Amino acid sequence: MNERELTFEEIALRHGSDKFRVHSFQKIYDRILTPRRHEPLRLLEIGVGGEGYAVGGSSLFAWRDYLPNAQIVGIDIYSKVEVDGDRIRTVVCDQSDPIALNALNREHGPFDVIIDDGSHMGPHVAMSFHTLFPLLATRGTYVIEDIQTSYWPHYGGSSLAPACFDTAVRWIKIAVDVINRGEALDPTLFPASLGFDIAELHVFHNIASFVKGDGSSDWRSRVLTEEARAAWLGHDRALHGDLSDAYQELLADPGKLLRLLQVVSGAGGLDAFLALHARKSVALES
Ligand SMILES: C[S@@+](CC[C@H](N)C(=O)[O-])C[C@H]1O[C@@H](n2cnc3c(N)ncnc32)[C@H](O)[C@@H]1O
Repeated sequence: MNERELTFEEIALRHGSDKFRVHSFQKIYDRILTPRRHEPLRLLEIGVGGEGYAVGGSSLFAWRDYLPNAQIVGIDIYSKVEVDGDRIRTVVCDQSDPIALNALNREHGPFDVIIDDGSHMGPHVAMSFHTLFPLLATRGTYVIEDIQTSYWPHYGGSSLAPACFDTAVRWIKIAVDVINRGEALDPTLFPASLGFDIAELHVFHNIASFVKGDGSSDWRSRVLTEEARAAWLGHDRALHGDLSDAYQELLADPGKLLRLLQVVSGAGGLDAFLALHARKSVALES
């Protein structure tokens, strides 16, 4: 009789990383990765764990046991060489260094699965994502853990001006636009200049995963004719053109936006302010 395969949750709980004990991310990983469990995947995890030079590696051991045919690579700013072993390699690499990430990809990639559980600093998360997502294998999965740090200033985020900082949540929101860009009336608004084709986005409590598209045209609109696009864009400009200018002006200056949020809180919020500003009733100076 064949023995039942352990779920990721069962394996994860044996290895005891905080992503399993504190966050219960194992349930999410079971959903995301089980369909590809037996493939010869290349998996990269950013952040091996252990405080400083302490060894860590719980999650890399869990990936090894859960994905029997996968090669596992972990990067960290500290050497974690003691973790290396059967199908596991660790590399000293800073997730905020695009040159080092490119070299890593050349040597060990392209990766099918990337998990960012590193510093959780917004600019680092964004740098890793923008460097590595375009290099991910087609239909590959990119996971960002602990996205709640986007709301906390000591991680480079903010709860007051979430659109102004280079955080995971900001990029997740932009990813919604990228996935639906075929229906944006101005095709230059959410350009492929972001350098990647996102096919799927899954957002859960504190964790999100992106699936890379294959570059095919399935994002192109099936519902908009070019005539409708042109007519509706003219209509949109007439209704919201000024609002769009005001919004772009604010986004370009986070300090100004923060001051304005203080001014407008309790008076209808940012949308009300933007509407007022669009009618030139409120000055933007500090
Ligand atoms: C939360 S721990 C990782 C835990 C591990 N993934 C697990 O689940 O057991 C975060 C790790 O990221 C590493 N780290 C911090 N800043 C980094 C950076 N800029 N680049 C790469 N790793 C970094 C830390 O040294 C630490 O080992």
